[in-house]
Amino acid sequence: MKEKNIDTAFFGQPKGLSTLFFTEMWERFSYYGMRAILLFYMYYAVSQGGLGMNQTTAASVMSIYGSLVYLSNIVGGWLSDRVWGPRKTVFIGGVLIMFGHIVLSLPMGLVALYSSIALIVAGTGLLKPNVSDMVGGLYSESDRRRDAGFSMFVFGINLGSAISPILVPWAANGFGMHLFGNEMNFHAGFSLAAIGMFFGLMQYYFGGKKYLSNDSLLPTDPIDHASLVKILQKSVLAIVAVVVLLGIMAACSQLNIANIILLITIVAILLPIYLFAVMLRSKKVTKVEHSRVLAYIPLFIAAAVFWGIEESGSVVLALFAQERTVLHIGNWHFATANFQTLNPLFIMILTPFFVWLWSKWKKQPSAAGKFSWGLIFAGLSYIVMAFPGMLYGTAGRVSPFWLVGSWFIVEIGEMLISPIGLSVTTKLAPAAYSSQMMSMWFLADAAGQAVNSQIVKYFSASTEIQYFLIVGGVSILLGLLMFFLVKKIDSLMAGVH
Ligand code: GLN
Ligand code: ALA
Repeated sequence: MKEKNIDTAFFGQPKGLSTLFFTEMWERFSYYGMRAILLFYMYYAVSQGGLGMNQTTAASVMSIYGSLVYLSNIVGGWLSDRVWGPRKTVFIGGVLIMFGHIVLSLPMGLVALYSSIALIVAGTGLLKPNVSDMVGGLYSESDRRRDAGFSMFVFGINLGSAISPILVPWAANGFGMHLFGNEMNFHAGFSLAAIGMFFGLMQYYFGGKKYLSNDSLLPTDPIDHASLVKILQKSVLAIVAVVVLLGIMAACSQLNIANIILLITIVAILLPIYLFAVMLRSKKVTKVEHSRVLAYIPLFIAAAVFWGIEESGSVVLALFAQERTVLHIGNWHFATANFQTLNPLFIMILTPFFVWLWSKWKKQPSAAGKFSWGLIFAGLSYIVMAFPGMLYGTAGRVSPFWLVGSWFIVEIGEMLISPIGLSVTTKLAPAAYSSQMMSMWFLADAAGQAVNSQIVKYFSASTEIQYFLIVGGVSILLGLLMFFLVKKIDSLMAGVH
């Protein structure tokens, strides 16, 4: 029997889902549209509309930027839980993101670049974890529409992510009308990202007022005044410590982008190790939960390696697209940045197949088994990219279908890791650390991209064969190793599937 008053206004889902769907769609539109052209903006010569940075530095900045965006989720989750509640936190985040894109749309060089990175890192940290959290909040514990709701939400993410790598480069190239001669006007592209985030904010504000519950205006675990003061004091101390460290680096003439990136890399790797240690030693964690946290460690490592490869699509594969790929198929010419649409496009194509597969396959692998396969697919997507160089040399340009094939393979891996990982993370979380575990999931991505920021320095046409073989090989080896651990991990999961 259909329950009375149940809200089914958005394709059978609560109307609030439409608000969150479009908020996240526009936010991802702005983020991935910006990233599709940012790499080129950084290293193109000033005469071509770029900043004229060194290509290696630009690639390293792209990766550490991606890492920071997921590292800051920790702070955003905390502020929502303890201080602002998700509704306000998401709104503030969206405003910061919009300003981050606006800053880049102005011709202000490196100052704009770094301010924009700071704004978008802070803004995404506030917005991303909490908008997903609110999706969960739309459903009661017993509401069976929950999983379908999340699938629709993920579809929104990918829809926004797929459209913008077409539209943003098109704007940057003068809307096909040669508005900027033969040059790129990156600022026009970044403006479009800002406009996207503006649409997202508008409909979040007005839709939220109508369709999101008033509970979301309150923090779930409000912090008392005394503890807040303590935390603020600690934060000030931490900031002072960072400033002192930077001062010491400056005094030793070591204050440069490479060293700052190295510092962030170390933080991104040590932070999850620290958080695992806290959970494993906590008295609030029961014996069963302790075993589940142990099971999560190999899954975390696998996820970090996987995201390292997946996220390199906007850096390593983007460079390959720019320097080594024929940019037309027959008479159809396209921009290098357009390749970024392939990742979300393949997700949208593959999702229905995997939903069907998991519902039909009786003896399907466990989460650990799926992760092993995910690593193998990620590794294969890299091995494939070693072939063009081995077959035709690394001097000329090759067919775009190498990249299309590589992205298709890595996205099969993503289907085996991303949705499975999200769901297993919530299930393995100790009760006392449930939101921290969710942040852990994003920290895997942050750690993977932090490692990328170091190794990407070795990527160039002259090293591409080795690069793809070694990184791909490591992923495949880890995948194989994990097959041997599947039984052990399954038993540590203590009843969770
Ligand atoms: N690509 C997805 C997004 O942008 C997922 C990223 C992740 O889970 N690390 O939302
Ligand atoms: N692959 C990126 C994220 O899903 C776009 O979802």
